[in-house]
Amino acid sequence: LGLLVPDISNMSYGPEIYRARRRRDRNVFGLFQGRLEENLKRLEVLKTMERAAQTRVRLGDAANGGLRFLERDRVDAVLTSPPYLSDHDYSRLTRLELVFSGNVASPSDLLKLKHRLLRSSSKNVYQSDHAVELVKRFGAVRSVIKGISERAEERASGFARVYPRLVGEYFGDMYKHFQTLGRVLRPGGQAAYIIGDQSSFFALRIKTAAIIAQLAEGCGAGLRVVAKEPLKKYRGTRGAVAWSNQEWMLLFQKRGRRNR
Ligand SMILES: C[S@@+](CC[C@H](N)C(=O)[O-])C[C@H]1O[C@@H](n2cnc3c(N)ncnc32)[C@H](O)[C@@H]1O
Repeated sequence: LGLLVPDISNMSYGPEIYRARRRRDRNVFGLFQGRLEENLKRLEVLKTMERAAQTRVRLGDAANGGLRFLERDRVDAVLTSPPYLSDHDYSRLTRLELVFSGNVASPSDLLKLKHRLLRSSSKNVYQSDHAVELVKRFGAVRSVIKGISERAEERASGFARVYPRLVGEYFGDMYKHFQTLGRVLRPGGQAAYIIGDQSSFFALRIKTAAIIAQLAEGCGAGLRVVAKEPLKKYRGTRGAVAWSNQEWMLLFQKRGRRNR
């Protein structure tokens, strides 16, 4: 339902919510029905697949103990797109779904949910957060925090002043997550992560993927980077194709031999 909002209103994402051009009347129910039918068709296709895998959906904070249900050395492969370090508040982007699905019925439910999210937005960093302590020994993290702090000092805006803390907490949470990943991944198992580099804070270039690679390799979990592939291709006006150097697929492998 939330996906429909940019099509039926003057709201758009860029990446945060903003007011776009005014729209003429839209066929809201028709568009909604179209989305439902698309999804129902997908479910029908899944039903016909002979070797359908068993799937289970679990809710948990991937940085703070939410993956405890997974046993040590049991996971063969991970494919994920963790939160971007670009001041996205993921609870906001899905606010309608959260309410309609019954997961959020009051402001206090929302607060609880935001506490469980990885710190990626200036609107969910809390006084009790101290994950930055885990990553202060990494020079690259210190230098990003310093660069942002210097720029933030010149700004009066409240949120701008939170940016240095946000960046520290983001990397701290990712560090904790990789410690967990190292525990649950089988020796020889692989994990693919989609990571974007950023310039969201005072246009300071943050090589997020390179920093994340350092944290994963340096968190003592036996992980090493085995590939770093650029994603998105851009086609120029003259037809030349270039790879973006902003979005990457990082592939990690856990040391040791597979024993299965
Ligand atoms: C870049 S988005 C990826 C979305 C996903 N690929 C999809 O299509 O739904 C990052 C996702 O991570 C989720 N997330 C944020 N904090 C998390 C946490 N601590 N543990 C697990 N997931 C989290 C966000 O809610 C968001 O859905």
